Amino acid sequence: MAAESNANHGGRHRHVLLFPLPYQGHINPMFRLAGVLHARGFAVTVFHTHFNAPDPASHPHYRFVPVPDGMSGPAPVAIEDVVAHIVSIGGACEAAFRDRLAAVLEEYSRDAVTCLVADTHLLPIFQAANCLGVPTLALRTGSAVSFACFTAYPMLCEKGYLPVQGMPSSSNSQLDTPVVELPPCRVRDLMGIGKDGHEVLCEMIAGAVAAVKASSGLILNTFDALERRELEGLRQDLAVPVFDIGPLHKFSPAGESSLLRQDRSCLEWLDAWPPASVLYVSFGSLACMSPRDLEETAWGIAGSCVPFLWVVRPGFVGGCAENHLPERFEAATRGRGMVVGWAPQEEVLRHRAVGGFWTHNGWNSTTESICEGVPMLCRPYFADQMGNARYVEHVWEVGFEVSGELERGSVEAAIRRLMTESDGAGMRTRAGELKKASAECTGKGGSSCLAIDKLVTHMMSL
Ligand code: UDX
Repeated sequence: MAAESNANHGGRHRHVLLFPLPYQGHINPMFRLAGVLHARGFAVTVFHTHFNAPDPASHPHYRFVPVPDGMSGPAPVAIEDVVAHIVSIGGACEAAFRDRLAAVLEEYSRDAVTCLVADTHLLPIFQAANCLGVPTLALRTGSAVSFACFTAYPMLCEKGYLPVQGMPSSSNSQLDTPVVELPPCRVRDLMGIGKDGHEVLCEMIAGAVAAVKASSGLILNTFDALERRELEGLRQDLAVPVFDIGPLHKFSPAGESSLLRQDRSCLEWLDAWPPASVLYVSFGSLACMSPRDLEETAWGIAGSCVPFLWVVRPGFVGGCAENHLPERFEAATRGRGMVVGWAPQEEVLRHRAVGGFWTHNGWNSTTESICEGVPMLCRPYFADQMGNARYVEHVWEVGFEVSGELERGSVEAAIRRLMTESDGAGMRTRAGELKKASAECTGKGGSSCLAIDKLVTHMMSL
């Protein structure tokens, strides 16, 4: 490893400061990045909100600095409320963060601190750090194309593609209009959360673009073999360097940054099944299902006769703590299914028995699946998930979308198509090729390894 790719420069510039956005899909990539930088010799200090605070005991090598966030009451559930919360977090923490950062700088000495890496959704945190003379880097936890969509958002609104009328998952022909500026996306694939949430979404997106502009570089959890064209486009458009250092989970696992306890008994259960026979079903940390959709999903899974591992997390059904699967579901699927509250997802996808993933297409889930060669059934809910699903089906061709109203018959047919038909086998072959390409990117001399070297060198130069 080149000398300049490590942080041990006679004690100078040894510390990196991190501030994740406190949601699971953002915490995981930030902690994976922490692992990468720690392995390169950086001392890691994590600033974090009280809301969804990480467990310091799971990361004994890092220092944790809690920052009050003024949050009281339960976590938001509806996507509009989550977006409004995301928009408010940075501002709510800014003053307290500034005090704590000043104290840390005094303790470590300014020279020992390389920079702050913060989530793109924390603009006020970038501004506070810059005011105190601390250089910043922005971590965007989604794909390159989703950030390209962020930068294009004002143009997309001006041209009338947005705001989306109704939720992106609803049936409305306006939603199928192709977006010629961002092929192969249609209006429904853009970052949309419905007309009511449009203003707050615009604020969130503008904030993320401003954060990148205020920073000294953009770090993306993606890789060259997956998004070469999209990365080239971003490099042309942005005035700051772009580091495609993903998939981060291949450098550093994230199990210990899980906010929910992972039920590891499912790994043993998987051991009993033949290769590529089990469907893994999970919709991430935020998406919720209506009781009706849960029922149709359950009977579709039951009718497919395919073995399954299903994550039904607390709060998944309409935000209620209790999730009620149909009464006779357990009896109907006995011996060939397991339902857990939260799984060790990376390990599940790596298990040889898993042959398909029914997913909401959060970016972490999408890349975790691709890197294990697991083809996907896509059921996106909001934000970047529709765009990710579009790329899975139409660019990488490693899955297909289950669109429209969920009905048990179509669910059953979709599961069979993915798991047992030749169509699905073709997707599995292509997913295997992408798995190989991702391994090359993260292997010695691969594009992501070289990008990490460049990132560390850049950090040392700030
Ligand atoms: C959210 C948005 O939905 C997503 O589109 C955006 O890119 C990031 O924020 P989330 O719903 O949390 O993400 O989905 P995803 O990005 O897939 O992240 C979920 C993480 O939780 C993954 O790293 C996954 O491995 C982990 N997970 C999920 C578990 O550890 N266990 C589970 O049972 C399910």
